[in-house]
Amino acid sequence: MKTVLSTLVAPHQTSEFFDSFENDKPFYVHNLSEGINEITDLPMLESIESLLNNWSLPIKAHLPDVRDEASFININAQDALKVFENGMGLHFNHAEKLSPVIDQWLKQLRIDLGLSALTNSRCMLYATPAGGGTAAHFDQNINIVLQLTGEKTWWISDNEHVRNPMTRHTIGLPCDPELESYINAQMPDSMPENKKEIVMKAGSLLFVPRGSWHMTSAKTSALSLNFTFTAPTWIDLLTSALRGRLAQSSHWRETAIGFNDEVNYQIAENKLNYLLNDLKEDLPSWRARDILNATECEPF
Ligand SMILES: [Fe+2]
Repeated sequence: MKTVLSTLVAPHQTSEFFDSFENDKPFYVHNLSEGINEITDLPMLESIESLLNNWSLPIKAHLPDVRDEASFININAQDALKVFENGMGLHFNHAEKLSPVIDQWLKQLRIDLGLSALTNSRCMLYATPAGGGTAAHFDQNINIVLQLTGEKTWWISDNEHVRNPMTRHTIGLPCDPELESYINAQMPDSMPENKKEIVMKAGSLLFVPRGSWHMTSAKTSALSLNFTFTAPTWIDLLTSALRGRLAQSSHWRETAIGFNDEVNYQIAENKLNYLLNDLKEDLPSWRARDILNATECEPF
C-alpha cells in the first residue's frame, strides 16, 4: 500500500528511511514531483505572496538579532510582506488548520512513522529571505522538511553533547536547567565541525533527526513546509498512564501542603511516604500492555 511516507521518500524504500530514522541520521531526497502534487498544487503554497494572501492565522516574524526561533514578534499578513522584504524570516504555524489536504498528510505521516497517538503533530511553513536562516541549534522534535520554492542550505551534525534531548537548545543561549542535568558534555560555542551539507531546492525532502545540531542559510528567498512531531518519550507514556491511575485516588488528589514549618514538613513527608508505599504495592501488577492500551488509540 502506498503511504504518505513512501510517497515522500520515493524512489527510496521506506526501510532505507527507517534506517536513518532509528539511528538519528539525516535522510534526504531531491526532485520529488508528481507524488507531492497534492501538496505543491495547493494555491496557498504557490509562493510567499499567495501564502500571505491566504493565511488567516497569526504569523511570527523572526528577529534578526540571534537568528533563533525563540526570538520573534507576532504580526499580521499585511505587515508580514514588509518585514520579509526587510530581511526577516516568517513562521506560519498550524498550516493543517487551513488545509484539509495538509491535515490528512500530517495525520497519516504520524501513523506511517509509528509515533504515539499522544504525539503533538503540526505543519509549519517557513518563509526565509535570501541570506536569512537559523543559528546552530537542536530541537526535541522530529522534523520532515519539504522545500517548496527557492534554495536553502542545511548543515546537520550528530549531537555528541546530549542524546535524546527533551528540549531545544541554541548555541550561545542559556541551557535549560533540566537539559543541563543530563548532558554528556558542555554545550559548544559554535556548530560542530563534522557537519553534513544538504542543499534544498523545490522538491527536496529532508528528515532532520531529533536532537541533531543544525543551521540553515537561504541562497534565495525560500519557502518550506515542515511536518513537525513532538513525540512522547517512554517517560511521557509512563507518567501519563501513572497520572491517570493516581487520579483515581482521592488521597493522591489531595493538595500537597505543609511546606511552611518543620513539623508540617514532617507530616507532609510521612503522608507522601504512605502514598509511595501504596504505589509500590500496586506496581508489581503493572504491565506495558496496560500502559499502551491507555495511551494509544490504535492498540494492536
Ligand atoms: Fe530546528
